[in-house]
Amino acid sequence: MGNLVFAAKVAHVPTMYLSEQEGPFKGCRQSAVDGHRAMGKRMKDLGVDTVIVLDTHWLVNNAYHINGNAHFKGVFTSNEFPHLLADMPYEHEGNPEMSDLIAKIATEEKGVTVRSHHIASLELEYGTLIPMWLMGAKEYGFKVVSVACLCTVHDHMESAKVGEAIREAIRRMDGNFAIVASGSLSHAIHPNTTLKTMDHFFTISNEFYKQVDLRALDLWKEGRFKEFTDMLPLYAKTCHGEGLMHDTAMLLGALGWDKYDRGVEIVTPYFEAAGTGQVNAVFPVAA
Ligand SMILES: [Fe+2]
Repeated sequence: MGNLVFAAKVAHVPTMYLSEQEGPFKGCRQSAVDGHRAMGKRMKDLGVDTVIVLDTHWLVNNAYHINGNAHFKGVFTSNEFPHLLADMPYEHEGNPEMSDLIAKIATEEKGVTVRSHHIASLELEYGTLIPMWLMGAKEYGFKVVSVACLCTVHDHMESAKVGEAIREAIRRMDGNFAIVASGSLSHAIHPNTTLKTMDHFFTISNEFYKQVDLRALDLWKEGRFKEFTDMLPLYAKTCHGEGLMHDTAMLLGALGWDKYDRGVEIVTPYFEAAGTGQVNAVFPVAA
């Protein structure tokens, strides 16, 4: 019987990568980088074997999809922001058995079609690569399973059921698992016409989004997930949540959805990035 020992919602903005490179951005995201490093160390100390990353950068237009490759190796350049994130080498082990089991449980027992893929040329997206790099997945030996969460035609309750399948798969496997939801809160990137100065990397696109994000975080900190799951679909739509926040729906599905009532721990305080709202938050899991 396996255990879920760690769960979190985390940022993956490209300036976190640049923050670690020589140049004008060096150190600009130190708080977020430190948060990722601290979470990686905690996962190591908790004996995590496999990290299941819910990646809001992997776009899917029907069903749900998991990258179940046994090994990942490559050099990543973002086709979204090639000037910000280029030539990033990576190498991780996968967990094909876990990927297959999640897909089987979701499809056969939860009624939501999930496909587990073993295609060597199916690459990881940077919603997976940046957190796994900063959390030390390679150094600590975490296996990586990446779940597509830029879900364009999906219902949040379907994603919650995928989360339930992930939790059930963890129960049926051996080992210690972590779930990392990789995506923003509000995600209204600045309009192109406003990109005049470096400021746009460090500001929200509208105060409305920030205020709703902060209210959502208050609910999280107070463990009020009945209210949060009620507001999630409209919040994700109105505030342009990254991947429509299907990563968050999956994470909460794994934790009990509206029954989850633990107060989250803010590891990196709310920050603004290129118009979006970001946070690193740990969701406590029962021992
Ligand atoms: Fe993103």
